[in-house]
Amino acid sequence: MDLSANEQKVLRALAAGELSPAAAAEAAGLGEQEAVSAASWLRTKELAEIEETVTELVGLNKEGLRYAAEGLPERRAIEWLNEHGAATASKLADGPLTADEARIVIGWLKRKQWAWLEKSDDGVMLTPARDDAPEGADEPLLRQLADGAQPVDSLDPQGLKLLQGRQILERSQQVARTLRITEAGRMALDELSGEELLGEVTPEMLQSGGWREGRFQRYSLETQAESAPQATLHPLTRFTEEIRGIFLQMGFTEIEGDYVESAFWNMDALFIPQDHPARELQDTLYLDDPKSFLLDDEEAVAAVKAVHETGGDTGSTGWRYDWSREVAQQALLRTHTTVSTIRYLSEHREPPVRVFAVGRVFRREALDATHLPEFTQVEGIIMEEEASFGMLIGVLKEFYRRMGFPDVRVRPAYFPYTEPSMEVDVKFGDRWLELGGSGIFRPEVTAPFGIDTPVLAWGLGLERLAMLRLGLKDIRMLYQSDLEWLKTAR
Ligand code: PHE
Repeated sequence: MDLSANEQKVLRALAAGELSPAAAAEAAGLGEQEAVSAASWLRTKELAEIEETVTELVGLNKEGLRYAAEGLPERRAIEWLNEHGAATASKLADGPLTADEARIVIGWLKRKQWAWLEKSDDGVMLTPARDDAPEGADEPLLRQLADGAQPVDSLDPQGLKLLQGRQILERSQQVARTLRITEAGRMALDELSGEELLGEVTPEMLQSGGWREGRFQRYSLETQAESAPQATLHPLTRFTEEIRGIFLQMGFTEIEGDYVESAFWNMDALFIPQDHPARELQDTLYLDDPKSFLLDDEEAVAAVKAVHETGGDTGSTGWRYDWSREVAQQALLRTHTTVSTIRYLSEHREPPVRVFAVGRVFRREALDATHLPEFTQVEGIIMEEEASFGMLIGVLKEFYRRMGFPDVRVRPAYFPYTEPSMEVDVKFGDRWLELGGSGIFRPEVTAPFGIDTPVLAWGLGLERLAMLRLGLKDIRMLYQSDLEWLKTAR
């Protein structure tokens, strides 16, 4: 077995017999810290034992130290009474005692039979019972403890009993370590060549070439070391960073949006009809303050109204109902990040556009193991002349592949704002999990803003993906700040 130089020194020192850490350090010619550290390594290798003996100590607290210096309250009281004659306890509080001490002193004077007690109009009258006030076991012990805490076994039990009633004692523990060599340690000692193993390479060794001669201590890969958790980023923060990196590498620019939006941008601009069930209070969180927004882009309002009512000039028939400006003005918490991309398009109508957003969205959903009422979406659009459905599938597959999910499947789906539309699933184990929606924006969405270039769009869930990557059964774990889990989540 390879032992470090310090381990060898300590092992040799222990061969003569068991030692305290200080004695072992001295015998080995080491500092105490070094000796203890070497001894614990010897212990993990089962070459030495460290025995710990715990001693219970008793000492005085601050009040006790004062008593030791000034005398017990009843001692001060009786000395004063002997000098000045009988008095009440409250009188003593003006003299040798504090108010608190005057309150307890009667009991002690009576118990020690140092004074007579007599009721008077001013309270209990105290008269010295004898000239001498003989010491019990408590006063010698008080003096003894004034020198510092001492092992409880070495103290007079009777004195201890008396002092214990006064809240002046302080208990503590002293741990004494004894280092001892084991049978295996002795055997290892016999085998030691006496050669010192080198623990590190120094610049001098490199210069002189001396490292070639010495033998180096080997690393023990079996030794169990304590884990040292360090501060890390929350897994969701790490994923968000990872996703940003991927889209940025793929040539996208990041955009941001607000949590509070108008129904106009969150729904109407996306050709979601005003009687769509997702607009109901059960699904969407509407605000009281502000309750609504004034729509000021009259051109956009007119175009969106036309497309809803008649299809405008897109060739579509629209939804065929009377579009309400009021409904569109309602304030809500955004239900998807698609609101950010349509807003961006309304201001950037010329291709090419490649933008993405990672952001929180809000839905009125019951919280359970796979649903959160607040969650994060990874949204993106590509507007390019050559953009096609095939390209959309390719980009999403590439994104998931880079996230570590090589198996991706797409299924036809429906969204009011895309045609064709598809749902994206990734394979995890032997299950397919639905992770998001995507498609090509319908003309009813792009025409009102004068856009006739194809726009590919998607909105993917982040937390479900995180669940898969972290092997979580319950999505709520991501928001529970469970430190034990966070320390190990990878
Ligand atoms: N907004 C959709 C959702 O929240 C996802 C989606 C985005 C679908 C873009 C199609 C196009 O589920």
